[in-house]
Amino acid sequence: MRGKSILGSAVLAVLCAVSLASAEGYVGSKACGECHEAEYARFQKHSKKAHSWESVKVMASDLTQKELANCYECHTTGYGKGGFRSYESTPELADVGCETCHGAGAAHADGGDPSLIRRVPEVEQCQVCHNAERVQDFDFKPLIHSGAH
Ligand code: HEC
Ligand code: HEC
Ligand code: HEC
Ligand code: HEC
Repeated sequence: MRGKSILGSAVLAVLCAVSLASAEGYVGSKACGECHEAEYARFQKHSKKAHSWESVKVMASDLTQKELANCYECHTTGYGKGGFRSYESTPELADVGCETCHGAGAAHADGGDPSLIRRVPEVEQCQVCHNAERVQDFDFKPLIHSGAH
């Protein structure tokens, strides 16, 4: 990902990222992919997070609005933190995206300054969603460097 193609597309991506910037600092994974093509491609292909909205969608018709809002906390990006609001207004944040682990990235995406983004997520961050009631993936800890991309 440190190749010339990144720099080549950086100028264009800055323009895109600025216009895509939404909801207080969250831009959505696709905007990150403008510069981080390899991470984005791997994430979309291999991470269940990239399709976590689907998991909610298939069950939505059986749920009340209140129950649905509960799902959003773990199945979308930045819900209640200035990120995802509804599928209609913030579709780019409907899955659990890059910014779930790296933090809201609008400032970083606007030019690519690496000091404006968190590189390594904390395990505590994961536990907000991967908590004791969801033990299925409780082995996620050893995967901290592989559950992403
Ligand atoms: C305009 C291009 C651009 C966009 C858009 C962009 N980045 Fe970056 N990113 C860079 C550059 C340039 C670097 C620093 C050089 C490198 O690590 O390859 C970087 C570095 C990083 C790093 C490593 C930081 C470090 O301390 O080493 C992470 C993590 C990251 N970006 C995540 C993201 C996320 C998440 C998004 C979307 C919210 C995003 N980037 C959007 C260009 C961009
Ligand atoms: C905002 C909530 C949230 C946070 C924070 C979160 N995850 Fe997840 N993660 C999910 C959801 C939801 C799924 C399952 C998506 C689905 O199947 O619909 C998942 C799936 C996974 C999986 C299953 C395999 C895969 O690649 O999809 C692993 C491993 C994982 N997460 C690791 C982590 C790690 C490590 C962290 C912390 C760095 C983390 N997660 C932070 C919500 C979260
Ligand atoms: C506390 C966080 C959290 C909440 C709230 C939550 N989920 Fe999840 N969900 C996860 C995690 C993490 C996974 C990944 C698998 C695991 O660890 O059990 C997951 C997995 C799933 C899966 C299985 C996907 C697969 O590929 O097997 C479905 C379906 C799902 N969730 C639907 C929902 C729905 C619908 C709601 C709301 C009623 C909801 N979830 C609320 C965290 C959450
Ligand atoms: C489940 C958490 C998680 C998600 C989601 C995630 N990352 Fe990462 N990311 C990590 C971890 C862990 C590292 C490794 C940090 C280290 O060891 O230096 C990393 C490292 C990076 C780096 C630094 C260079 C590298 O590859 O090591 C970039 C750039 C990056 N991620 C971009 C992205 C982009 C773009 C997305 C979305 C398409 C994304 N990340 C989604 C956890 C995540």
